[in-house]
Order: sequence, then C-alpha cells, then structure tokens
Amino acid sequence: MSAILLIGAGRMGAALARGWIAEGRGPAIAVIEPQPDPAFARALKKAGGRLNPKPAAVAPPSAVVLAVKPQMLEGVAREAARYAAAKPVFVSIAAGVSLARLQSFLGERAAIVRAMPNLPASIGAGVTVAAANGAVTGAQRRLAGALLGAAGDLEWLADETPIDAVTAVSGSGPAYVFLLVEALAAAGIEAGLAPDLAMRLARRTIVGSGALLAALPDQQAEKLRRDVTSPGGTTEAALGVLMAEKGLAALMAKAVKAAVKRARDLGK
Ligand SMILES: NC(=O)c1ccc[n+]([C@@H]2O[C@H](COP(=O)([O-])OP(=O)(O)OC[C@H]3O[C@@H](n4cnc5c(N)ncnc54)[C@H](OP(=O)(O)O)[C@@H]3O)[C@@H](O)[C@H]2O)c1
Repeated sequence: MSAILLIGAGRMGAALARGWIAEGRGPAIAVIEPQPDPAFARALKKAGGRLNPKPAAVAPPSAVVLAVKPQMLEGVAREAARYAAAKPVFVSIAAGVSLARLQSFLGERAAIVRAMPNLPASIGAGVTVAAANGAVTGAQRRLAGALLGAAGDLEWLADETPIDAVTAVSGSGPAYVFLLVEALAAAGIEAGLAPDLAMRLARRTIVGSGALLAALPDQQAEKLRRDVTSPGGTTEAALGVLMAEKGLAALMAKAVKAAVKRARDLGK
C-alpha cells in the first residue's frame, strides 16, 4: 500500500485522513500534527496509522499531503522537501498558493498537485478541484485523485488558472449557504415566526433542497425553481424581489468577485 504522510490534521487534514481510514488505508498513514484532536488520534491509532513519528521513522512516502494554513505553508513545505528523495507526489490544499510557489519551496523537479477542497469534505460530501504540475506522472495523479476523492467529488483542471474562481465558488460557497439559512430565518422572524421555529424551517428548507438536488443530478436547478413557482403565486412574488435587476444574482456576482480578488491578493 502506498505510504501517505499527512502534515497538518486540523479540520481539513483530519477530514481527508478519516476518508482514507474508511477506505482501509490506515496502516499506510503517518500524520504530523502538533495538537491532534483526541477523537481523530484514537481513530488513527485504531486503524493502524501513526501520529507524529520521528522523520527518520517515516516510511518513504508515495504522497505527502500538506494541510496547514497558508501562512504556515512555506516553512512546512521547505521542511517536507526532505522527503523529495522518495519521489512522492506532494498535494497542497492551501488557498492561494500557486504551483510555482510550491515548486520554489519543494524543489524545481517536485511532482505537485494543488487542490481546493471545501468544508462538506468533513462529512465526505465535499467537492475538490485539483491541478497538477508537469512533473506529476499518471500513477501519481491517480494516487492524488484517490486521496482527494476520499472526501467527496473531484474535478481536475488542465491548468491552475481558474483556481481562484474555484476558491470563490466552491471553497467559500458553504459560507454563502449558511448565510442564506441565517437570512431566511431572520426574515421569518420579521414575518412573525418564533425564532426557534424560523431557524428550524430555514435549516430544513436548505437541507431538503440540497438533498433534492443530490437526488436529481440530471435536473437543472433552474427547472426545479420553475417547477415550484406557480404563476401569480407566493413564490413568484418573492422571486420577483430576489431576481430583480440588483437582486441575488448581482449581489452574488459581486461577492464572488470580491473572493476572487482576495484569493489573488493572498497568493501574491
Ligand atoms: N476549512 C476549509 O473549509 C478549507 C477549504 C479549502 C481549503 N482549505 C485549506 O486547508 C488548509 C488547512 O485548513 P484547515 O481549516 O484544516 O486549518 P486548521 O484547522 O487550522 O488545520 C491546520 C492544522 O495544521 C497544524 N499545523 C500547524 N503547523 C504545523 C506543522 N509545522 N506541522 C504539522 N502540522 C501543523 C495546525 O496545528 P495548530 O493548530 O497547532 O497550529 C492545525 O491543526 C488551509 O491551507 C486552507 O486554505 C480549508
């Protein structure tokens, strides 16, 4: 089994590793994490994985996954370059850090995959977008794909150019959906609902609508929206406001643009 070294087991790193454990890769996993979550540490141990082994005791890895915050990445990646002799594929999930910068930390000939997962990965329902540099072999791409795919769906990009837009759509997107729950609940309270009931209704509506999208993968969201909108009805009245010229689409476009700009600035 390919030896996997995970550096950083916070929210995202631990979510990925849980996926690998579920696939039976436990004994092949080594994790470096200064403050491991106790439940994760137990799950890793039970699966036969190793926590914080000394560098000399780490089996030559086939994959090194870097899952620390972008601010920590340079130091951690320069340290991880020590594993380059084993010719692993390095996988980074740090927002805004380009393949060229990763290469400058890990070595010009390092095989590197840059990926952008999102929060639902923590329950195996994420979507990850990945791009590889020219040094990544077919086998390394399959291994990186299997590791990233353990947390949900995976899409490959031919090059990394659109990844800032990916960050702005699927990376940050879960927060937009949570805000929608908050806003819908607040509007419900304003319309006369008890706060608890408003929050339950808003939450269940988003959860149920998401489940419906998941259950009907061939149905366009637009078709589902049209189906639920009777002419002259209540939904149409509300959508008239949301879809007005400066409505939700304009606001969303502005929000995504701001996130793209921030991703670019962070990557400088
Ligand atoms: N969360 C998301 O929704 C999301 C989505 C897409 C991409 N990402 C990317 O995923 C990366 C990780 O994010 P996260 O939310 O999982 O962050 P996080 O929860 O803070 O996890 C990072 C972990 O790495 C540990 N760490 C720090 N320095 C280390 C070192 N030298 N060696 C080993 N481990 C070290 C941290 O420990 P300490 O707490 O002790 O510092 C922490 O537990 C980020 O680059 C982020 O851009 C996150």
